[in-house]
Amino acid sequence: MTTTDTRSQSTTSTLRLQVNGREHELALDHRTSLLDALREHLGLTGSKKGCDHGQCGACTVLLDGRRVNACLILAVTAVGREITTVEGLADGEDLHPVQQAFIDRDAFQCGYCTPGQICSAVGVLAEARSGWPSAVTPPEGGVQLDEAEVRERMSGNLCRCGAYANIVPAVLDAAAAELPAPGIETAYHEGESR
Ligand code: FES
Ligand code: FES
Repeated sequence: MTTTDTRSQSTTSTLRLQVNGREHELALDHRTSLLDALREHLGLTGSKKGCDHGQCGACTVLLDGRRVNACLILAVTAVGREITTVEGLADGEDLHPVQQAFIDRDAFQCGYCTPGQICSAVGVLAEARSGWPSAVTPPEGGVQLDEAEVRERMSGNLCRCGAYANIVPAVLDAAAAELPAPGIETAYHEGESR
């Protein structure tokens, strides 16, 4: 619900945002990005600001389960939707399979891009489960979540440390853990070109 402050013709409204299963009431300037609302107003600094221009993916969060660049979304447009940040992926002490795979594969160096990579990967798994094609999906045969698919689908998430060599296997490991469904090829073979 959004309440506009008409008394002062203010550019600020009181918004209710649903973040990681909790409702938060915030008075925000209408021009506040979702990323700034999360980081500066809610203290959820997991989502990172890399470019603030939709170029790097460091700010990726899930909106109703679909990945978005939080720097390109106005917070007011997220009212009534479920926002999930990297802080909301774990189930208590149990990490999300994607988080665990990133640790197991040592899929980061400085870690700045990692929250965005992880949220994006969670979105990728959901897309694959739903059978959504990417630019490299063959017209026939459905989604084979292999290395090429992961690279294509994760191409909006840049890593300045160049940790892709471990990020791709991590996403495939998580896919294998989450998507044992027949017809989805998730194996990453050691020694293959990366
Ligand atoms: S900070 Fe949002 S895409 Fe770079
Ligand atoms: S781990 Fe440093 S930018 Fe990706």
